[in-house]
Amino acid sequence: MFIYGYKTFYIAPEQVTSKDYAYHFALIAEESDNDYWRLIEQGAKRTAQENDVYLEYVAPKKADNSKMLKLLDRMISAKVDGIITQGIEGQRFIDLVHKGIERGIPIITIDTDVERSERKVYVGTDNFYAGQLAGKSIITNTVGDQYVGIITGRFDAINQQERIAGFKHAVESFERIHIVDSRESNITEIGATQAAYSLLKQYPKMNALIGTSALDGIGIVNAVREITPNEDIFITAFDVLPETLDLVEEGFIDATIAQYPKEMGAKAVEVMVELQTKNVLENKKYTDTKIIQMKDMATDPGGVK
Ligand code: BGC
Repeated sequence: MFIYGYKTFYIAPEQVTSKDYAYHFALIAEESDNDYWRLIEQGAKRTAQENDVYLEYVAPKKADNSKMLKLLDRMISAKVDGIITQGIEGQRFIDLVHKGIERGIPIITIDTDVERSERKVYVGTDNFYAGQLAGKSIITNTVGDQYVGIITGRFDAINQQERIAGFKHAVESFERIHIVDSRESNITEIGATQAAYSLLKQYPKMNALIGTSALDGIGIVNAVREITPNEDIFITAFDVLPETLDLVEEGFIDATIAQYPKEMGAKAVEVMVELQTKNVLENKKYTDTKIIQMKDMATDPGGVK
């Protein structure tokens, strides 16, 4: 076990008088200032504090797999006691997880899993199931032909791929539901607005849009308001950021698939503390996922507001 004084990272060693921590964990996020990841950080930091853990939150400024991989490599070299990271597509991630595990550093994936890596545990949403829920919502809440446009965070993010696969699987046997096309938002609101705008321009028949990452629903609403303010477009979003919930309440977003990022962060730290002294048997710890609509708003959906 390594003992770290957190100020060692910022000021000269002779000045270190602050409390030492039992463990030093790193949390590697997809994008530093993304509201969704800040909630993961919040949950993780609170549990870290309770467990005498120094938690270092690191992330690229803008989502970028190669930068995230560099951070992962850097954290392995820094010999932290545990790494909690979003799962990243490709062989490099698998190799780095192997390297970390070989050096005795437990690694947990959060939010997005890479099952074929040697990560010890995955903590987060069952993303395929979440996609199925989005499919179920469109099936039960619409009638007649649905021409669906998909706005997704990034094509090379595994959780986005899984959500789309789950969505497709759910609607597959419904002939009235047609998946028309998809575009990336780059996990930004403006990206989602532009993507939705371009889909609606290209496919005038489009009457349903789904956004599969946290800011997509908000971006979609901007585009719809701009381009087809009087038409009824069925909008499905992801996540329960305050602005998304407001749009559900106001009737602009028809349904959103809730994830619980604070719980993910808290659980991941809790499991990482356990992994310091023993193995954890269950290697997937799914957090809750559910459909939230206007009718659920009165009851503060899952304590998320
Ligand atoms: C996803 C995260 C992503 C975020 C982007 C969430 O729905 O689970 O992977 O970083 O959206 O805003």
